[in-house]
Amino acid sequence: MAAENDREPRAEDHGQETISAHNAHGPSRFSPEAVAELNEIVSHYPEPRAAMLPALWIAQREYGGEITPEAIAEVAWRLGRPTVEVEGVATFYTMYNLGKRGRRHLEVCSCLTCAVLGAADTIRALEDRLGIKVGQTTPDGEFSLAEVECLNWCEAGTVVQVGGRYYGNVTPDKVDALLEAVRAADDATGEAQADGIVKVCLGSASGSDSTGSSGTGSSGARSSGTMPLPGTAAESSRG
Ligand code: FES
Repeated sequence: MAAENDREPRAEDHGQETISAHNAHGPSRFSPEAVAELNEIVSHYPEPRAAMLPALWIAQREYGGEITPEAIAEVAWRLGRPTVEVEGVATFYTMYNLGKRGRRHLEVCSCLTCAVLGAADTIRALEDRLGIKVGQTTPDGEFSLAEVECLNWCEAGTVVQVGGRYYGNVTPDKVDALLEAVRAADDATGEAQADGIVKVCLGSASGSDSTGSSGTGSSGARSSGTMPLPGTAAESSRG
C-alpha cells in the first residue's frame, strides 16, 4: 500500500484522486494494528485492490464479526476503490458475514451426502433447541442458524460449521453436545474466524505460516481446526 503506517490513506496514494473522494470522510474503526496488517498485506500485491479479500476479513474482525455498510465504506476508503466495487466483492462471497448474525453462526450443510445422512432432522433438532428457524437469530443474539451448501467434509455428514470450526457426524441426539461445545469454544465466532484468516494471509504474504496451525486451506477457513463431538470419530480425518 502506498500509504505509510502513520497516516490515513489518501486517494492520491493510489493514483485515484476522484474515485475515493466520496469516501474521504468514511468511518474508521480499524485499529492501528489492523491498519498495519492491511498495509503489510497490500505491500505484497501490485495494487491495493488485489488485497480486497483480506481487507474484508480484517474489516469483519474489526467490526465485531460482521461486514456492515460502514465496514465496506472503510475498506473502500483504505484501498482507494469505489464503495460499490467493495460491496460487489463482499456480497459475491457467502463466507463474509453480511447483516446481523448471532455471535455464533451455525451453518448446517444440507447438500446431498449430508441430506442422505439426515441433515433435515439435525436442522429441525437445532431449530427446536434454539427456538428459532433457519435464517433467524436467537433473541439474546448468541446463535443464528443457516442452511448451506457442501462444506467439503462429506464423509462426516451431517457437518456444521461455526466460525472457523467444523463439527462432523452431527445427528439430532448430538445437538445438545454440539451447542455445549460451540459455547465453550472461544474461537467459534465470526471475529475469531476472520482473525484466523487474516493471520493466514499475513503468513502467506511473508512466506511463512504465522498461525502455527495445520489444515489451512487457501481460504484459511479451517485455521481453527476441528472439534469432534463426544461419541464421534470425526476429528481424525480433519487434522
Ligand atoms: S454434502 Fe455435506 S459436507 Fe459435503
